[in-house]
Amino acid sequence: MNDLSNLPADFVWGAATAAYQIEGAADEDGRAPSIWDTFSHTPGKVAGGDTGDVACDHYHRWPEDLELMRALGIDSYRFSVAWPRVIPQGSGAVNAAGLAFYDRLVDALLEAGITPNATLYHWDLPQAQQDLGGWPERETAERYAEYAAVVGQALGDRVKDWATLNEPLCSAWIGHLEGTMAPGWTDLTAAVRASYHLHVGHGLAVKALRAAHSDLRIGIVNNLSPCEPATDRDADVAAARRADGHTNRWWLDPIHGRGYPQDMVELYGVDLPIKDGDLESIAAPLDWLGLNYYFRNVITDDPTGPAPYAKSVYLPGVRRTAMDWEVNADGLEQLLVRLSEEYGARRIFVTENGSAYHDTVGPDGQVDDPERSAYLEEHLAACARAVRRGVPLAGYYAWSLLDNFEWAYGYDKRFGLVHVDYATQKRTIKGSGRRYADIIAAHRRRVRRAA
Ligand code: IFM
Repeated sequence: MNDLSNLPADFVWGAATAAYQIEGAADEDGRAPSIWDTFSHTPGKVAGGDTGDVACDHYHRWPEDLELMRALGIDSYRFSVAWPRVIPQGSGAVNAAGLAFYDRLVDALLEAGITPNATLYHWDLPQAQQDLGGWPERETAERYAEYAAVVGQALGDRVKDWATLNEPLCSAWIGHLEGTMAPGWTDLTAAVRASYHLHVGHGLAVKALRAAHSDLRIGIVNNLSPCEPATDRDADVAAARRADGHTNRWWLDPIHGRGYPQDMVELYGVDLPIKDGDLESIAAPLDWLGLNYYFRNVITDDPTGPAPYAKSVYLPGVRRTAMDWEVNADGLEQLLVRLSEEYGARRIFVTENGSAYHDTVGPDGQVDDPERSAYLEEHLAACARAVRRGVPLAGYYAWSLLDNFEWAYGYDKRFGLVHVDYATQKRTIKGSGRRYADIIAAHRRRVRRAA
């Protein structure tokens, strides 16, 4: 086993999920459709025609899922609040029944001694707001801030840890440029405008949350990847720099008060609709930074491809998950050190990290997933190495608590520490879930011994 003994005594051990991926109950208690309901119901968009209509039925089965969290022994549960449950039309009437669901969940988490960590936006924009233009329009950022105020006021007396956005890169680049996530556009101008308004919304939401309760700890969650040149050819080195701008710097620089990277502004060639005060608001001080890490990118020049004219090469002979993503724990250490040294982060959480494999339930009823356990251990070891190098890493949230709806891949890709049989909704803690529980318990024993 890798040495984790230097992780801080108060290290937060968590697991994460997102509303549309697990809740189901898509049209219950006043919830209205989101862009993901529309996207997943559009033939050809999601593998197997899967949708989040039922997902893990967590909306009804959350007490059972809470018991699973207790069995794993996690300190904190990271979940997202569904905007289309709370303000179904995107703006206007608040749906009390939708808010009540999160109210019950939060009370029960606290009762169980599990700290809630809530994300306001994990990609489920109300379709009605999309119909008004969605993230490419500033109005969406303003409506999002109103939604943030409503949720902050309702839950902020008990939920102290908040993330504004989850992976805005995916909303903007994958949703509006690559088109393989909702709303499924392939338009660079729309994508750049969406990225900007996501940031505007983030800044406004920070303000709304702080106004709702002054003692909240607020962060933002970015998915980042090291971008390394495939060769030392000048063209590949320059491409890796562009890929880094697209993947990392575009998302980190503005929230750290550095504005948008000029090389990327020129590369996109899209005017940013900046208004007075926006850049200051986008750079509002945060209490923590969230890092979602899955893989590194090895980059080659792609002059005829889409922006940023750089593409990932497929390395032969490396270990890969069922997503075909390279297993590379060093990339996590590298990013954590970069956030600390280059961006001066003072408190970081790994807010997601995990792996999909082709799990099956054995004849003994067990799910044996040694590859996921190895992945978990290697990435936790990378966290410990980063801490040894002075990174202020405060916690780790495994992705994911449950197998769930993996967006355009549907239910085929399983990331859970807990297996879900979608036909029966039976949950089974996988071997990796038991391994995680053991790691958490060992950490607690070490802390007690040292006390
Ligand atoms: O399932 C997703 C999650 O919604 C966002 N981060 C990456 C995960 C795995 O693809």
